[in-house]
Amino acid sequence: MFSFAPTPGQSKADLHADLTAAALALTDGEPDAVANMANVAALLWEFLPDLNWAGFYRMVAGELVLGPFIGKPACIRIPLGQGVCGTAARTAQTQLVADVHAFPGHIACDAASRSELVVPVLRDGTVIAVIDLDSPSPARFDDDDARGIETLAQAIATRI
Ligand code: SME
Repeated sequence: MFSFAPTPGQSKADLHADLTAAALALTDGEPDAVANMANVAALLWEFLPDLNWAGFYRMVAGELVLGPFIGKPACIRIPLGQGVCGTAARTAQTQLVADVHAFPGHIACDAASRSELVVPVLRDGTVIAVIDLDSPSPARFDDDDARGIETLAQAIATRI
C-alpha cells in the first residue's frame, strides 16, 4: 500500500514539491508508461483539491488520444489546435484558462468544468503528452499551479 498524501495546511509550493516527489518515487524504476501515468493521475487527484478531472492525453500519430485519468469519461481523440488540450499540444505552451466558457473551441467533456490547466509534457523538445486538470470552480488554477505542474511534467517526461 502507498500512502502518499498532502499535508494539511501546507503551502502551495510545498504541496507541489511533495506531489512531484511522490510522482518520482512511485514511477522510479517502472518502465510501463500506462502504469506510471495512471499513478500520476491518482496523485494529482489526491494532492490537488477542487478538481473534477485529472489525467493525460498522449500524442499518438499527430493527434491527442485519451490516457489514464480520474473523472468522468472524456472525449477520446483531440486534433492538434482544438480545445485547450489541442492548443497546449500544438503550441507546446501551458494553457491556464480561468473561464472555460470564454475559451474559443473549448471541448466540454464534463459540463461541470469551469476552469482548466493544461501543461504539455516535452521529451527532447517534442510534445509527447499533456497533463489536463479541470475544476468545477472558476479561476481554480493560478501561476503557482502552472509552474508546479510544469515541474511535474518535466520530472516524469522520461517515464511516460
Ligand atoms: N476541455 C478539454 C477537453 C478534455 S476534457 O476536459 C477531459 C479541452 O478543451 O481540450
